[in-house]
Amino acid sequence: MEITDTQLNNAQKFITEALQFHQDGDLEKAEKLYCRVLDFVPQFTLAHFNLGLIYFAEQNFAQAVYHYKEAAAQQPDDSDILFNLALSLKKMGRLNEAVEVYFQVLALIPHDPEAHYNLALALQAQHEYDQAIHHYQEAIALNPAYGPAHNNLGFLFQRRGRKTEAIKTYKKLIALNHNAASARHMLAALQGDTTAGAPDEYVQEIFDNYAANYDNSLVNNLGYETPGLLRSLLFETTTSPLFSNCLDLGCGTGLSGAAFADLCQRISGIDLSGGMLETAAGKNIYHALHQGEIVNFLAKSKEQFDLFLATDVFVYLGDLAPVFQAVKKNALPPAMFLFSTENTDSGYIIQPSGRYAHSTSYIKTLSREYDFEIIKQQESGIRKEKGEWIKGNLFLLRNN
Ligand SMILES: C[S@@+](CC[C@H](N)C(=O)[O-])C[C@H]1O[C@@H](n2cnc3c(N)ncnc32)[C@H](O)[C@@H]1O
Repeated sequence: MEITDTQLNNAQKFITEALQFHQDGDLEKAEKLYCRVLDFVPQFTLAHFNLGLIYFAEQNFAQAVYHYKEAAAQQPDDSDILFNLALSLKKMGRLNEAVEVYFQVLALIPHDPEAHYNLALALQAQHEYDQAIHHYQEAIALNPAYGPAHNNLGFLFQRRGRKTEAIKTYKKLIALNHNAASARHMLAALQGDTTAGAPDEYVQEIFDNYAANYDNSLVNNLGYETPGLLRSLLFETTTSPLFSNCLDLGCGTGLSGAAFADLCQRISGIDLSGGMLETAAGKNIYHALHQGEIVNFLAKSKEQFDLFLATDVFVYLGDLAPVFQAVKKNALPPAMFLFSTENTDSGYIIQPSGRYAHSTSYIKTLSREYDFEIIKQQESGIRKEKGEWIKGNLFLLRNN
C-alpha cells in the first residue's frame, strides 16, 4: 500500500509524542499514540516494537507477540526484535516457537552469551537437557564469569547424573561467589558431607520457583498424599480430635492446612518461601501466615500450640534437635506433633538430591530427649521420583 506524504507526516508527529510519553512513563498515552501511528502507517516498525515493550510489561504476552511479529516482518535481521519475540512466546508457553526464534537470534549474533543462555533456558523448559547443557557451556565459553549459566549448568549436570561435572560447576559458582550458599549445599550433597540443614536462600529459591506448579506437580504427578495419610493416622488414635491452635511448619501452599483445618479452631502457617505463602493465602485456609524460618520463628514466638504439623519439611533440615526443642518450648500439653521423614538407616544424612533423610532411631532418641511420646509410626511412600516411591516414615508424637 502506497503511503502518502500526509500520512507519513501524521505518523511522525504521533511517534514523537508517543516516544515522549513512553519516556515519561505514561504508558497508557504512549500506547494510544503508537496505535494512532499505525492507523497512518501500518508497518511502522518502531511503533510495533514499542507496543511490544508496553504489552510485555503489562504481561499481555499475546499482544506483545503480535506486535513483535509485525516488527520482525519489517526487519527480519534485527536481533533485538527477535529476542523479545522469543521471550514473549516463552512467557505464553509456546516453547517450540520460542526455541525456533532463539535459534534465529543465534544465527544473527552467534557470539552473544545472552543469546546462548536464553536459548538454553527455553530448551531446559522443554526438558531438552543435553541441548540446554551445550548452550549453557557456549554462554560460559563466551563469558566465563556468567553466574546464572554456571548455576543452571550445575543443576542439569546433577539431574543427568554427571556428578564430577556437577561438583566442578558448583565449585566454580563458589569461586564466583554466585549463589554460593546454595552451591555449597549442593556440593555437600554430592560429596555426602552431611550438614545441619539447607540454607534459607536455597530453600527460598527452590520453592519460589516451584510455587505456581507445586500442587499439580506433587499431587497429580508425584503421588503425594502425606497430609491425608497423617490425618488418617491421627484418626486411628482418637475418634474426634480437636485442637485449639495449630501451627503448620513449612506450610508451603497449604496442602496440610487443607487436610487439618476442620480439626483446628485456629491454624497458622510459617514458611520461608514468599511464593508458596502467596498460593497458600489464596486458599483462605489459615488465620495467619508468617514468612520466616521455623526455628527462628518459634524461638521468638510466645504463642502456644496444641498441634504442630511438618509434612515433607524435615527433608530440608538435617539436625532436628533445634526443631524439637523449639516445638517443646511452644507446646501446650498434651500437644501433638505430626510429621514425615525420608528414611535412612542411622542418624541423619544429606542425600545426593540435596534432601535429608532421618532414621527411626534418631527420631526415637530426640523424642526421649525432648519428652515426646511416639504414639504412632508408619512406613510410607512419600512421593515418587523417576517413577519409584521414596521410602519414608510418618510420625505422630505427643508432648504430655
Ligand atoms: C516440600 S514443601 C512441603 C509443603 C507442605 N508442608 C506440604 O505438605 O505440601 C517444603 C516447604 O517447607 C518450607 N521450608 C523448608 N525449610 C524451611 C525452614 N527451615 N523454615 C521454614 N520453611 C521451610 C519450604 O519453603 C517449602 O514450602
